[in-house]
Formats: sequence, structure tokens, C-alpha cells
Amino acid sequence: MKFDTPAGQNHIDQLKVVGRPTDRIDGKYKTTGTAPYAYERHDVAPNAAYGFVLGAGIAKGRVRWIDTAAAKRAPGVLAIVTTLEHPRMERGMMNAAYLFGGDQVQHYHQAIAVVVAETFEQARAAAFLVKVDYASEPGKFDLAAEAKGAPPVPGDSGEGSGGNGEERVGDFEGAFAQAPVRFDETYSTADESHAMMEPHATIAAWDGDKVTLWTSNQMIAWGHGSLAKILGVPKENVRLDSPYVGGGFGGKLFVRADAVLAALAAKAAKRPVKVALTRPLIMNNTTHRPATIQRVRIGATRDGTITSIAHESTSGNLPDGSPETAVSQTKLLYAGANRLTAMKLAHLDLPEGNAMRAPGEAPGLMVLEVAMDELAEKLGMDPVEFRIRNDTQVDPQDPKRSFSHRDLVGCLRLGAERFGWSKRNPKPGQVRDGQWLVGVGMAAAFRNNMVLKSGARVRLDQAGTVTVETDMTDIGTGSYTIIAQTAAEMMGVTIDKVVVRLGDSAFPVSSGSGGQFGANSSTSGVYAACVKLRDAVAQRLGINSADAVFADGQVRSGNRAVPLGDAAAGGALTAEDTIEFGDISKSQQQSTFGVHFVEVGVDAYTGETRVRRMLAVCAAGRILNPKSARSQVIGGMVMGTGAALMEELAVDTKRGFFANHDLAGYEVPVHADIPHQEVIFLDEVDPMSSPMKAKGVGELGICGVGAAVANAIYNATGIRVRDYPITLDKLLDRMPDAA
Ligand code: MOS
Repeated sequence: MKFDTPAGQNHIDQLKVVGRPTDRIDGKYKTTGTAPYAYERHDVAPNAAYGFVLGAGIAKGRVRWIDTAAAKRAPGVLAIVTTLEHPRMERGMMNAAYLFGGDQVQHYHQAIAVVVAETFEQARAAAFLVKVDYASEPGKFDLAAEAKGAPPVPGDSGEGSGGNGEERVGDFEGAFAQAPVRFDETYSTADESHAMMEPHATIAAWDGDKVTLWTSNQMIAWGHGSLAKILGVPKENVRLDSPYVGGGFGGKLFVRADAVLAALAAKAAKRPVKVALTRPLIMNNTTHRPATIQRVRIGATRDGTITSIAHESTSGNLPDGSPETAVSQTKLLYAGANRLTAMKLAHLDLPEGNAMRAPGEAPGLMVLEVAMDELAEKLGMDPVEFRIRNDTQVDPQDPKRSFSHRDLVGCLRLGAERFGWSKRNPKPGQVRDGQWLVGVGMAAAFRNNMVLKSGARVRLDQAGTVTVETDMTDIGTGSYTIIAQTAAEMMGVTIDKVVVRLGDSAFPVSSGSGGQFGANSSTSGVYAACVKLRDAVAQRLGINSADAVFADGQVRSGNRAVPLGDAAAGGALTAEDTIEFGDISKSQQQSTFGVHFVEVGVDAYTGETRVRRMLAVCAAGRILNPKSARSQVIGGMVMGTGAALMEELAVDTKRGFFANHDLAGYEVPVHADIPHQEVIFLDEVDPMSSPMKAKGVGELGICGVGAAVANAIYNATGIRVRDYPITLDKLLDRMPDAA
């Protein structure tokens, strides 16, 4: 099905199943331990041996030799594969660093060997007996030191943000110089780790020249193609299966060393092999969100109208890596005739920087929305009103292009009312609650909406069961549930009559999960397949498709009503289709909008920040399942709170690695850090986006929330911290007198 005209009235609009707050189908499996993750697929490979990955002990240079003699003699060892035995292997989709092969070391903990043994403990013990000699070379590890002179380079997050190295509209410098009120500050954000619960893990098994990988991956078709290329095996001989993914956040968009090494190890050991990356290895072997240094300049008239805005970001990456697209939102969020955005890239020899939940917007809004708060104060304006004053209904870089639907103002007004914003004391450091300095802050949320071609197959059997198969993944997001809701709505059955099977490369190629494009794209693919299945049902029953009503498990036409399953009496009916998005997705700007309000308490004696209250209001098209969408948004809010308060990979700038490589040293928020969270969705549809009229929401929740936390800390204490995260050491010596 081609989607190239705005969606009219369709079967989804009935909203009998879609749009209802529905429990996640996989919820009971996840909470009872019966949803097997990749490493736990005992059913498929009961005799799997264990692979333990060895990472390079230097950040840059060459492996001179690897001595495996002692390791080979260790108990239980079945095979050892070293990087020196393989020429450098090809890279897969979006890989900047090489995953294995050859003697070159591009970053610390790049994989150099995998040791296979009967048990995990034996493999680990043997791995420590492997002796390695390196020829180390000096590298560049300090972003601040390399930022000067970093050139502007184009970049694309692959998730809806990006652009040219430098983009200009009007005359920024001239307008800024003449602006009655000027703001100019520089900020920094930290390197962050995805820190998903489930580590990267794969079981690989060969059958002759065919290989199957039970793995944890967000994008099955990418992984399928990439592994075929990396392993040098025809695509038809590779199968990926990833029905449950314990979080990815962008870290599992692409193939990582676990999959490649499991395949190589299984071949060497002549047995299925399972490989999980240990947490210490994940931090430095896989990807991370790159740190940024960002400068924001905004010029405004005294009434708060922005006349000029510039946002420049510098990040680092390996030579083949991309810049963090942290200035993207600034091209679209606020009006202003004179504009400049730039992404600069410094060469660093740290592990590969790549996509992490809302790549670009998450660190970009962390900075832009603090800058907006600072300028509002300078103007003596309420921060909510300042944003409303500078709203735009057209793309500020190309005013002929409108937004398909934009209700940022609606979010701002409703959020302010629900949060009780009018009670805020705009003067910082005024509100005390015992030992706590209390403050409130807000920030806008923004993220582009993206759609990707997505396919599905649906089958109807005689019992009236509808089975959906697509290689779409559920990375903890609720894909199983919204896909079942879509098929149930389309076929006129209850959700328990739908079976959803995901994550297998043998199924039709879907959008996959990422960039908050998965829900809208994949359900649209299911919609398209169900349109075909409805036609097939009508034809089989000898009724006119246009007259057929699918409801209550029946197909009705005139006075005739037959059980849906009767259409499959002569054999199951199958239909397959792919939704393809034509130019419609480019003709107007499709974005999602929101606002975050946060109340914090900062301990007047210790500088410890506790979040007390959070509210998000989101405008993101039709909400397919308010329950799972809310979970996505609150998850994003938690993650953004982590970015604001604690998450930071500490760079050892001498030896070139992230030193805090576990969840004790790399802190993420836990339940005790997060108060009750409230999420409100504006009741809206976007017929330009898809037949579902939905948009992305999975990453909107992280966008801007960190800035709202930072702005609340300022309101509580009067201290403006511009280097994130705001750990208490950055507050302590500037705290107001506590007595
Ligand atoms: Mo993307 S960082 O996988 O949503």
C-alpha cells in the first residue's frame, strides 16, 4: 500500500480496540520469567557452549601477538578465536568501528578474542590466561582539548535529525549584534551509556553453511544484511530471531561483537555458542551517546521576540563516525528570521559514539531549553509565555513548509494549568521546605516524526484466529500489543483472537524499532496487510468487499452474518503487504511536541537534588495505546532525569577509556529517585502521518526533561550549572547560606 495522500476515514477510526489503554500482551511473560531473552534460549540450543569475549587493553595501536597456549590447556576449553586469525571483517549498518579481525586497535575494549568453553566460568577463567602484546600509539581522548578547530560536518542520526555541517538563514551575526537583548553561553553534556537491562547477547548455531542467530537486536533486516556481509555468507543462509529484547535505546540498532563472535566461535567449536557482553565490556566495546560542547546565542527584542538564534555543537568520534546531531531541533522549534546552526566533529579515539534514545534532540534540548530559561529571566518574562511568544506554525528555515500538525502552545498552556505553574515564585532560592530548597522548572519537548516502510503478513484460520507475522521487534515498548490491537480493529475481533509473532528474519521486513518510528510505521504495515486480508475474506465469502462489515467476530453484509473463521473453512487465508510512504512525509514538517514541568528539592546542606514532581504533556498524533505510550514517556522522563543529575561516562583522558564501566560507577536513576509521574496526551490525530494517524512518542519523553530538571534546580537555588550532569559537587560551594 502506498501512503501518499492524507488518511481519510478508515477502519481504525472506530477505536474499539486501538486507542484503548490495553495491558501489554508480553507483560505476563516478562514478569513471570517466561519470556526468554537471547541468552536464555535453552529450547533452541540446549547444548550451547559459552563464549567469553576479550577486549583490547589499549585504546589505540596494534596487537603484536596473542599467546593462547595456556588458555587452550585450561579446563573445559573448546576453542579460541583471535582477531589475528581473521583479516579485518566488513562493517555492518551504521558501524563506525570494526567489530573484529586484523591487528589494528581503534578503541579500548575492541574485541580481540573469544574463548569458548563448556561453562561460562571456564571460558572466563581461560580468557584471563590469554597473553597479549600490543604496540600502543598515542590517541586523542579529550573533547575539550580537541574541540578548537573541529570542522563543521554534515550528519544524520538515522532517526529524523541531522543536516548540513552549517545551516544559515538571513544574517545571524548582523541581527544578533543589533538585538536589544543578547544571550550567549556555552554548555557541555556528558558521554552516556545506554545501560539497557539486557546485555548484548547472541546464541549462534551452524547447520552446514547456514547459521541461525538468536540475538537481541532492534532492527532485524539491518542485522540480517549486516551479518551476511560480515560473515561472508549469502543472506538466505542467515537467520536472525529476536522475539524479546530487554531494552536497546539505540545500542542494539546494529550488529555488535556478540553476534559476530558467537557465529565465529560456533564455527570453531562446531557447536552452538552463546556470547553475552559483560557490563564492563558493554561500556567500552559498544557504542555510547557522545559528549557535546554547545554554544547558544539568542538575540531578542525587549518584548521577547527572537530575532536571531544560533546553536553550535561540537562532539567527538572515531574517524568514520558522525557528529551528534544536537542542533537539529533548533532549526524548527522557535521562530526567528536570522538563524545559524552548526555541527562540528572532533576526531577522538574513544569508543564509537552513536545513536542513543533521541540522538541529537536529547542533548540538544538539554542545552537549548536551559538557554531559553536563562533568556526568559533576562527579559523578565515568564518562561512559558516566552515560548508561546516565539511559537511558529511553519518551518522557520523554509516558511512555505507548514507543520502537518503542531500544538506546542496547547501543551504549554495545559501543562502550566495542571502543574500549578502560576504559583511559582520566579525569584530563585526563595522557597524552603525544612532542609530542602524547593524549585520548579519547565522546558519544551520536541522530536521529529519519522516513518519507514514496513511489511506484515496476516493469516486467518478456521477458528477465527488472526496471526500477524512481521520482523518488527518489541524492545520493551509494547509492539506486540499495539500490533494485536491494530489487527483486532481491522478484522473486527477481540485482541485475544490475535496472535502476534515478531523478530524473525523469516517474516516480512518491517520498520524495526528506533527513532520513535516503530509504532506508527509497523502498525501501518499491519493495517495494509489487513486491508488485503479483508478483501480476501470478502471474496471467499462471495460478498462485495465495500459492503462487508467486520465486527464482533463476524462478517456482515446486508442480512447475512457469518463467523469470520468461516472464510477460512476451505483453508487458511493469508495476505501480505508493505506500507510505503511517498512524498507526503516530506511535503509538510512532521514533528511531535510536548512540555515538561518538574519540581525538585535541593538539600540546603549537601546539595543533593531530589525530584519531587514531574508532569509531561505530549502532542503526538493518535495515541495507539495510552497505557504503553505512557510507559514510554515516563521511561524517557526517567532517562532524561538521569542525564540531568547523574549519568556520565568518566573519560580517562590519558589511557582513553570510560573508567566507570559498571552500574555501580555509572549511575542511572532507580525507583527511589523518581516520584510519581504524570503524563497527559492531547487528543489529536495527524492524517498526514499514516493511516493510523499516529506519530512517534517513544523518545519524546526524554526530550527536554533534563532541561526542566536543571531549570528547577536554578529556581530552587539560584545556581545555574551549565555542565551536565548536575552532580552535587557542582552546587555545593555555591549554595546559599543554609542557616
Ligand atoms: Mo534509536 S536511539 O534506537 O530509538
